[in-house]
Amino acid sequence: KIEFVVNGMTQFVDESFKDWTLLRFLREVLNLTGTKQGCDNEGTCGLCKVMIDGKARFACRTKISSLDGAHVETIENLVVNGQPPHPLIQTVVQDGIFQCGFCAPGAIMTAKALLDQTLEPNDVEIERALSSVLCRCAGLNRMDQSIIRAAAILRGDEESTWTSEDTANEAVMLEKVTGKLVFTDDMKFPGMLYASALRADVPHAKVKSLDVQDAQKMPGIVKVLTSKDIPGKNLFGPIVMDQPIFCDEQNDVRYVGDALALVVGESPEQVQVALEKVKVELEPLPVIGTIEEALAPDAPVLHKRLAEQHPDMPNVLIHFHTSKGDIEQGFKEADFILEDDYSVPFVEHAYMEPESSISMPEENGVVVYAGSQGPTDDRRQISSALGLPEEKVRIAHMYMGGGFGGKEDISTQIHSALAALLTGKPVKVKWSRGESLKVSYKRHAAKLHYKFGAKKDGRIVAADINIYGDTGAYASAGEAVLFRMSAFACGPYEVPHVNVHTYAVHTNNPPCGAFRGYGSPQ
Ligand code: FES
Repeated sequence: KIEFVVNGMTQFVDESFKDWTLLRFLREVLNLTGTKQGCDNEGTCGLCKVMIDGKARFACRTKISSLDGAHVETIENLVVNGQPPHPLIQTVVQDGIFQCGFCAPGAIMTAKALLDQTLEPNDVEIERALSSVLCRCAGLNRMDQSIIRAAAILRGDEESTWTSEDTANEAVMLEKVTGKLVFTDDMKFPGMLYASALRADVPHAKVKSLDVQDAQKMPGIVKVLTSKDIPGKNLFGPIVMDQPIFCDEQNDVRYVGDALALVVGESPEQVQVALEKVKVELEPLPVIGTIEEALAPDAPVLHKRLAEQHPDMPNVLIHFHTSKGDIEQGFKEADFILEDDYSVPFVEHAYMEPESSISMPEENGVVVYAGSQGPTDDRRQISSALGLPEEKVRIAHMYMGGGFGGKEDISTQIHSALAALLTGKPVKVKWSRGESLKVSYKRHAAKLHYKFGAKKDGRIVAADINIYGDTGAYASAGEAVLFRMSAFACGPYEVPHVNVHTYAVHTNNPPCGAFRGYGSPQ
């Protein structure tokens, strides 16, 4: 037996847990879900920080076998019912440090470890402590002042200004920062199954064959789903339903994140083993990697419907033309002309909470627990895939550990809902950080050509602009984003003579869609 103490309670753990991470043990065995996971056990996000023998440590990098005789303290230990919150919690809440709160337990435990060592921390020590925790909502850079004030309260040099009204008014924020708030991955249900998709891992290919029989026979595997199992439509998308739920002989792979099959089993480990047993034969197709390649006359066509709609631009999802005034006249009036090409790259949303959902059967339909930025859009797409009326699909909306526009499109929801409907059991689908990076949509990369005409007094009088956005493999919200690239092409300036063309161009890159600012940052 391995013996260690967690929040004052002695744990006797047998050898079968020795290779588990402390993070998994806390969350799955002790149900201490205040400690979060944002990376794939790599110690890069810091959300799982706990205290071990007084020092801040990554719970995802700590094996149970290394804990014999250790004392572990988690965020849950900082909460004493009926007492005012710990000074660190008081100050971070009063200073409005956290938004989604997903990173808060890790950051607070890191700060607590520092204050347990010294109540007079210097700037370097604070910076070193905080730099080990990532916050995507971007509040941590102000947390140094909260730590300094908490230290002063703990030293007795400063009075706490926390009141019982604060406790009442800040109820939700207190739940967030103390890890009590329930995010989707914190939930489990009796008999819950786990599912994970086989990804194409190639950017463009024809599916020659798909054989799931061996995977189906693996221990603990309940079902392996492919396109043949979908009761409704094998398509989804927030504006245009153009993305297959599962690629098959009729639906080519168009980017590395495309799904081919979904393995459903009793444990995540059994599912991962069975995924290796799915036999898939893919015939590579020419890859469109850039906007220029997509617009070349001999480019492969990615979506036949677009080639039929406008054969001269077969890989263009949509083209907007916006004009005002007389562009030639505008340049005649200009004293200076500036003309240049610009480019901006793809950007990943990198919310600290990776995507997850849990679905379960309910009254001839399903309920889907998910943190999402588009629950009614989710319901429409899930019901289409399941072949059910919308009222048979209920979205149980959960808190989100960040979204930034990246949780508007469906991620795991259709997969978990299909698996729940077809197995009759609750099913969790949770993406690792690696899967999230591979599959999730991005901010559009873009090529921009700007020609501005300006007067000597600084006024811009003419703007002739062409913007090509790489909208990736599928439509996502590309149409809305490129419309707004048109609308915001002149930034905040009022320009009398304007001519703007924007194009959303399909490539074999990840789909691109909504992301803070929605077309205007480019
Ligand atoms: Fe830090 Fe959202 S508040 S990740």
